[in-house]
Amino acid sequence: MSERKKVTLPALFDKVAKGQPITMLTCYDYPTGYLQEQAGIDMILVGDSLGMTMLGYESTLPVTMEDMIRHSQAVRRGSPNSWLIGDMPYMSYQPSVETAIRCAGRFMAEAACDAIKLEGGVEMADRMAGIVRAGIPAMGHLGLTPQSASALGGFRVQGKGALQAKRIVESARALEEAGAFAILLEMVPDRLCKVITERAEKCFIISLGSGPHAHGQLLIYHDMFGLYPRFKPKMAKVFGEAGRVILEGLQRYVDEVTGRTFPQPDNWFGMPDEEYDELLRLLK
Ligand code: KIV
Repeated sequence: MSERKKVTLPALFDKVAKGQPITMLTCYDYPTGYLQEQAGIDMILVGDSLGMTMLGYESTLPVTMEDMIRHSQAVRRGSPNSWLIGDMPYMSYQPSVETAIRCAGRFMAEAACDAIKLEGGVEMADRMAGIVRAGIPAMGHLGLTPQSASALGGFRVQGKGALQAKRIVESARALEEAGAFAILLEMVPDRLCKVITERAEKCFIISLGSGPHAHGQLLIYHDMFGLYPRFKPKMAKVFGEAGRVILEGLQRYVDEVTGRTFPQPDNWFGMPDEEYDELLRLLK
């Protein structure tokens, strides 16, 4: 395991103050958490996108707290030093402030997360404030908020028009006032992201498909390595074709087993002659 120092909230704000971009990725399992730890990723989001990327659902809505806790625990085991954020799943915070605080607390107590993230703006500011008052660092999420995709008219860019953009600016302010340490802007125009980033005083801004002006960037891990088969969003750059490499390996495996060239002696375990002879004698 690396000797990396634990990422803390003051260390993240220090980066922001020095103008150093924050790196953030989603992650859902132990081996990927281990790799992201080695790569020195600052913030890891165990996103409820795991419903789609890991569990094969068509949306994030069926994801449960139990799913989130199980995956967050695995990521934490792989990445002890990143700033780990548990994503509040659908209906774990919408019903009431109390529900929100209880579910946020589970991420901290059961999965050793450092913070939580929830979707929504002005209308969720009381949930945000309650969680922060309970001593739990919380991140907001504006723009395309997948849990409300139906109400938003699908997975599309948000805030292109001035009126909608103004509402997003107001929501960012409400979340900041409620105590959010950071706000994720997903799929809003770069200029809107710039306006919100310039206005942020007590929190920092992370962009997912919202351009270069934020304090940091987030990508969905499966998109950046060609691991999600259904589609590749425009905003995702592919940093490595891991999906293709794995598929080629799987095809070679099928060929070698079928052609009886796998396994080779290196891949199995022998037994001393005398033990084998004794076994045959015992079986007579
Ligand atoms: O669940 C998730 O991974 C997210 C991202 C889309 C930001 O919330």
